[in-house]
Amino acid sequence: MIQEAIVTTQNSAGLAHIAPMGIHVNGDDCIILPFRPSKTLNNLLESKTAVLNYCDDVRIFAGCLTGRSDWPLTAAEIINGQVLQCALAHSEVELVRIEDDYARPKLFCKTVHTVNHAPFRGFNRAQFSVLEAAILLSRLSMLPLAKIEAELNYLRIGLEKTAGEREWEAWDWLMAVVDKHKAEVNS
Ligand SMILES: Cc1cc2nc3c(=O)[nH]c(=O)nc-3n(C[C@H](O)[C@H](O)[C@H](O)COP(=O)(O)O)c2cc1C
Repeated sequence: MIQEAIVTTQNSAGLAHIAPMGIHVNGDDCIILPFRPSKTLNNLLESKTAVLNYCDDVRIFAGCLTGRSDWPLTAAEIINGQVLQCALAHSEVELVRIEDDYARPKLFCKTVHTVNHAPFRGFNRAQFSVLEAAILLSRLSMLPLAKIEAELNYLRIGLEKTAGEREWEAWDWLMAVVDKHKAEVNS
């Protein structure tokens, strides 16, 4: 199964980086697949560790894709790494081996420590809408405007019925970038 997590890594100087990634998870084993070029990839190759943060505040996902990546962090418990303070749970992982690829290497990791911080309070359709819109945003330059519009129109249904303040804020950040992109394409 692929789980959408916020991956925190750090370089050899201890500078933290956070990025949403779809993690292939199988028990304690997982695979992180960053597209080159990627800071997450560089940091993982340097430090051999990462933290997978599981969180329901979708502003982190939308924020990372819209230039807002300064979210509060705290030290990991076992590895040398950083945990998102808003994570409901996190797993600390170590790099085991790499399957290299010119576009998207596979980083095989194993979980060495997992912590639950807060309860999972159930699914929310607006959170799904924000995640999907964030993924669309990461592919804006590769997709035709008509497809982007059609998908956003569908995602708005769940958003408008179920969003809270955090989901609306995240959605508005994403839509500001989409609007700017549309204006550029149409000019
Ligand atoms: C839900 C979600 C899942 C994503 N999954 C991946 C992924 O598996 N691999 C990847 O390279 N980028 C993924 N992205 C896009 C990255 O977060 C984004 O491009 C980021 O800048 C990665 O580059 P970095 O490692 O330099 O930060 C995803 C984005 C979202 C919103």
